[in-house]
Amino acid sequence: MEQKRFVGQVAVITGAAKGIGQATAIRFAEEGANVACLDVDDVANEATARSLHQYGVDAIALHCNVADMENVKTVFASILERWGRIDVLVTSAGIYTGAPLVDVSLEQWQRTIDINLTGVFLCNQAVAPIMMQQRSGSIVNISSMAGKTSWPGTMEYSASKSGVIGLTRSVAQELAPYGVTVNAVCPGNTLTEMVRGVAEQVGTRDGMTAEEWLQMRANDCPMKRLAEPWEIAGVIAFLASKDSRYITGQAIEVDGGMVMS
Ligand SMILES: NC(=O)c1ccc[n+]([C@@H]2O[C@H](COP(=O)([O-])OP(=O)(O)OC[C@H]3O[C@@H](n4cnc5c(N)ncnc54)[C@H](O)[C@@H]3O)[C@@H](O)[C@H]2O)c1
Repeated sequence: MEQKRFVGQVAVITGAAKGIGQATAIRFAEEGANVACLDVDDVANEATARSLHQYGVDAIALHCNVADMENVKTVFASILERWGRIDVLVTSAGIYTGAPLVDVSLEQWQRTIDINLTGVFLCNQAVAPIMMQQRSGSIVNISSMAGKTSWPGTMEYSASKSGVIGLTRSVAQELAPYGVTVNAVCPGNTLTEMVRGVAEQVGTRDGMTAEEWLQMRANDCPMKRLAEPWEIAGVIAFLASKDSRYITGQAIEVDGGMVMS
């Protein structure tokens, strides 16, 4: 790493146990940040936090169900108590669900909205007063290309991710006078456990193996490949860095050109 942009800063990453959240936790630690890893998968989350110590930073794993307001409040209070500040929030915790409209139960709809959208709201709400008081900070909410476009059989996921973009724009306007930037990142298909699960589920539905489905998605992309989690993490880090101080309220596609808007 040529230049460490976050030395002495505190980054809070939800969904840090795996995938894009894990890659993001590593990126911030590599660049000198102390990192709070939040997730419901305690075993994998502990492993992520432990792995960050090799970069000479402080890192902790905290059990946090982002859809549980009391849990979120307690966890953010404990982070503040430990480090006295929060410079970066990345909301990567999320689930994928998908089914044709007529098959989606109210429970499935509610669970997706609770984790993917209410979870982002609760974490943004918890961190906002801290960053407003500091008069500095960056929030990066993870949406999806599914927040900007849609496919059949994925309406509750798409709705949750479009919601993240709307929330981001409003919070960005509220926090801009305090010097806090708020942006969304919209990844395309990225090689994580989530996308492998989707490949199994949707591939089976469409009469394909998971590998065939992943290849089809790669072929749909102008770059003819899926993303690696670190490629998303790099853009997240940019949006939390000084180089992006005049970017706020944006929803940036990192999808190899899948969605151009
Ligand atoms: N992988 C992709 O292709 C892709 C594309 C677009 C957007 N995204 C979004 O990126 C984010 C990360 O996805 P990923 O691919 O890394 O998924 P992943 O499944 O690899 O990781 C998601 C993490 O979130 C955690 N999590 C789930 N529910 C939680 C909850 N209630 N509270 C706290 N943590 C919880 C999981 O335990 C897991 O560690 C998600 O919001 C996802 O919707 C992913």
